[in-house]
Amino acid sequence: MSDKLNQTMTQAPESIDSRQRTGQPWNDMLPEALESMSSPRGEVRSMGSILSKASQVFILTDENIAPFWLPEVEYGLNCEKAVEIVIKPGEQHKNLQTVQRIWKTLMKHHADRNALLINLGGGVITDLGGFAASTYKRGIKFINVPTTLLAMVDAAIGGKTGIDFGGAKNQIGTFAEAEDVLVDPVFLSTLPRREILSGMAEMLKYGFIADDNLLEINIDNYQDHILRAGEIKREIVAKDPKEAGLRKILNFGHTLGHAIESHYMTTDCPLLHGEAVALGMAGALWLSVKHCGLDEQVLKDYEKKLPMLLSEAEISLTEADIEPIMGYLVHDKKNMGDKPRIVLLEAVGKPVWDVTVDYDTIKRSLEYIIINEYGKR
Ligand SMILES: NC(=O)c1ccc[n+]([C@@H]2O[C@H](COP(=O)([O-])OP(=O)(O)OC[C@H]3O[C@@H](n4cnc5c(N)ncnc54)[C@H](O)[C@@H]3O)[C@@H](O)[C@H]2O)c1
Ligand SMILES: [Zn+2]
Repeated sequence: MSDKLNQTMTQAPESIDSRQRTGQPWNDMLPEALESMSSPRGEVRSMGSILSKASQVFILTDENIAPFWLPEVEYGLNCEKAVEIVIKPGEQHKNLQTVQRIWKTLMKHHADRNALLINLGGGVITDLGGFAASTYKRGIKFINVPTTLLAMVDAAIGGKTGIDFGGAKNQIGTFAEAEDVLVDPVFLSTLPRREILSGMAEMLKYGFIADDNLLEINIDNYQDHILRAGEIKREIVAKDPKEAGLRKILNFGHTLGHAIESHYMTTDCPLLHGEAVALGMAGALWLSVKHCGLDEQVLKDYEKKLPMLLSEAEISLTEADIEPIMGYLVHDKKNMGDKPRIVLLEAVGKPVWDVTVDYDTIKRSLEYIIINEYGKR
């Protein structure tokens, strides 16, 4: 990582004036490798050429991100005349109403099919913006500029866009690839630590399913592995874009994780996605030891990492939570049928998908999480 970037990462941007004093646009500070990640189509393209071809540029972001980064990005990408669309933050706004607002803004400004939407934000923004762009006039181009760790290593990559509908997550969506994904860890300098830890859980997931180097991450070195994590997702998606088989390995830890996440949504202290996945991976590793011959040491090593991943979460799982969590599992549409099909590991880097495990055994993996008090502060 360049010295220049390291300098920018130590502090949040003060103001556009302080940046102008350095005489350096924000994207000049990016090391070459990070400036423009290879697009999902495998080419490295410069942002400049994408922007110069656009008839108009729109930037979608949320109210938390805008004060820190909107002027920076407009200045850095030389698109200060872009139309800004700033929405309220949070999953509850990843809905049709917000999409309509985006469509209406595009129409109001007579956006044609050569307009470009820049999605500056976390997974809510990249999912929403990708969906709005891929449906407006049957699809305009969009660029993702992820500002959360989770979006950098996961949500901004892979071509899935969508919104929540009818009370369920990601019910309406498209497969549409961003023209480019611009990843810069500098954005993480303003992200709360809890969100960083949540993104780190997804990075560990890539460690388990694909590359054990990622199992070495900690709060001090995780930034060195962001590009590798994104690369793994991109490689898996390229082999199986529509999730016919292999792409399912990205769901490692997510069957239990989603059920735990849904259960916590009904409480006063919801878990972040990565926190629920961190618990879900503990269950999946326990099941992998029992069913797929995974070396128990992998589970033991992970047990040492869990307290750090959950250190900012307010959780207190008890035996009484088992039944409601199992209820979510049974109703999870992906797991319809007699037995759920889940992703387990034979070894680190050797995932197997569609493993059928009966509900009683899954329940025992939940008991393992609770007995070991991983879900307790
Ligand atoms: N499409 C996919 O493949 C995919 C994959 C994983 C997750 N997702 C989706 O991603 C969403 C979750 O994404 P997320 O975890 O990034 O959450 P998020 O987008 O809600 O962002 C988390 C919070 O951090 C704030 N924030 C973002 N960047 C910031 C920054 N740099 N500084 C300060 N605050 C900042 C946001 O305003 C928000 O309050 C979910 O909707 C999920 O369904 C999609
Ligand atoms: Zn996830």
